Amino acid sequence: MYSEKVIDHFNKPRNVGEIKNSSGIGTVGNAKCGDIMRMYLNIDDNGIIRDVKFKTFGCGAAIATSSMATELVKGKTIQEALNVTNKAVMETLDGLPPAKVHCSLLAEEAIHAALWDYAEKNNIRIEGLKKPVNDVEESEKYDI
Ligand code: FES
Repeated sequence: MYSEKVIDHFNKPRNVGEIKNSSGIGTVGNAKCGDIMRMYLNIDDNGIIRDVKFKTFGCGAAIATSSMATELVKGKTIQEALNVTNKAVMETLDGLPPAKVHCSLLAEEAIHAALWDYAEKNNIRIEGLKKPVNDVEESEKYDI
């Protein structure tokens, strides 16, 4: 049912924790299942994501997708991080069962929310970044 990569990232999630004095923090949830994800980013003066950590109070698919998402954005530019969609994360994990696809939206939205927080703190506008939703159920963008 789950790919080996999903099971690996669920059993040994990468980049779990928090970053004190992070550049941006994003928290999103899914009101239907009650799962919550928080993403912390450290972004340097050149707009490179130097560090990323997450905490997910959620299902195995949410933990695995947040772990993989952190691996995909680490060391990347802000614009590259915007390309880390839930679809990209799922592909890298060799897929998710259809019933768990919505779980992968938390990671994408949490990254966007953390970038939005960073932009607001620094009074900048990030090209292509839309205001994130607090509840992924509102977003209706199940990108399968
Ligand atoms: Fe809630 Fe997976 S069931 S995120």
